[in-house]
Amino acid sequence: MNILLIGSGGREHAMACRIAGSNRCSTLFVAPGNAGTAHVDGCRNVNVDPMDFEALRQVVLENDVKMVVVGPEAPLVGGVADYFAASADLRDVMVIGPGREGAQLEGSKDFAKRFMQRHNIPTAAYRSFTADQAQEAAVFLSTLKAPYVLKADGLAAGKGVLIIDSLEEAQRELRAMLQGKFGQASAKVVVEQYLEGVELSVFVLTDGKHYKILPTAKDYKRIGEGDTGLNTGGMGSVSPVHFADKRFMQKVEERIVAPTVRGLSRDGIGYKGFIFAGLMAVTDKATGEMDPYVIEYNVRMGDPETESVFPRITSDVVELFEHTWRGTLHQVDLTVDQRAAACVMMVAGGYPEHYVKGKQITGVEDVKESMVFHAGTSRGTDGSLLTAGGRVLCVTSLSESVPAALLKSYQELAKISWEDCYFRRDIGQDLLKMMI
Ligand SMILES: Nc1ncnc2c1ncn2[C@@H]1O[C@H](COP(=O)(O)OP(=O)(O)OP(=O)(O)O)[C@@H](O)[C@H]1O
Ligand SMILES: [Mg+2]
Repeated sequence: MNILLIGSGGREHAMACRIAGSNRCSTLFVAPGNAGTAHVDGCRNVNVDPMDFEALRQVVLENDVKMVVVGPEAPLVGGVADYFAASADLRDVMVIGPGREGAQLEGSKDFAKRFMQRHNIPTAAYRSFTADQAQEAAVFLSTLKAPYVLKADGLAAGKGVLIIDSLEEAQRELRAMLQGKFGQASAKVVVEQYLEGVELSVFVLTDGKHYKILPTAKDYKRIGEGDTGLNTGGMGSVSPVHFADKRFMQKVEERIVAPTVRGLSRDGIGYKGFIFAGLMAVTDKATGEMDPYVIEYNVRMGDPETESVFPRITSDVVELFEHTWRGTLHQVDLTVDQRAAACVMMVAGGYPEHYVKGKQITGVEDVKESMVFHAGTSRGTDGSLLTAGGRVLCVTSLSESVPAALLKSYQELAKISWEDCYFRRDIGQDLLKMMI
């Protein structure tokens, strides 16, 4: 069958390799794709905006596409799955990604918190406020302990969450948010308790009733080493997360995954796609055990976690997606490569603030032992590979352990360069310290 994958980042390149690698896939179209997906066997980029649903419809009809896999959250929160379900000539197209209602798990932090409360899913204590409750919000904030966590309700491209140490500054920022600092996204603000712990990402593929828990991963959002500086789209990831052992994952499944899938079905929300639970593993002072709490839900795979997770999936992902659409996920097994994966992102100097595009990239063809996933690249008229974004490309390696996979990625990554490129040299180091 012909398949359409929506998106253009490193996540989509990693997914494209697995989807196009399936013998169930004839041609994989990627909208809009990048210079990396353009070179995957059986793949063709189509220059279409992921938010232009009418244009996506044309691609599907003109190319007899039977399945659509949605990479990023914006088209999902925008209702692309509902658009397909509502069109007579698209209704039978298998769409992997939730409808507008299910996508609220990511599209609205307040919706997600009320959902977790309703279904007794562990998360930080919180209250939500709108501008007419600014006074009440300020009082509530003063009852909490520092650091103060303020979240814009709507999508804010990963920039809508502020963690502030001083109450005074938090009060100021809260007022600014309610007055529209993040536009409509902060017309409502979630104020929640700070959770002290270690973060990890858990990915679930669900058909709305059954689910598969994919390999765990951890990503590194900050630009600076030691998790310092501004938040980015992600500077690297590793998989698996060693402390997410059998006992911990049992808690994750019982307290979070099963209640989430059950909760969606109880609320009458159809959901076929990925659920990405951003978790905080908090050590219980009494028992010394780690307990999982949900920091947030995303309704798509993470980036750059996908670049570590998808290379470890050995099942036929197209078969998994078919069962997801048909509601028969319990009838297929998920198999995973037991080797570990490590992904290190290379970015343009100055990212996430001001950076320059169009720099010539050299050395990618010399990388033999690892995978190179493109995030922001293009081809020059002479065919040379050029930087075309803040996050440019990442190097992912598989090996017998996370430390070994990291070593391999850094060795291979050293072959690649362009003027003013930057990468963090400490991806995964925090976990390595915990392992000692
Ligand atoms: N309650 C909390 N306690 C401690 N840290 C928190 C809390 N909530 C959020 N954070 C931190 O802020 C980061 C961003 O928060 P969150 O994941 O909710 O926002 P987001 O903008 O949706 O992020 P993403 O772009 O990863 O989807 C988290 O990865 C975590 O590091
Ligand atoms: Mg999020």
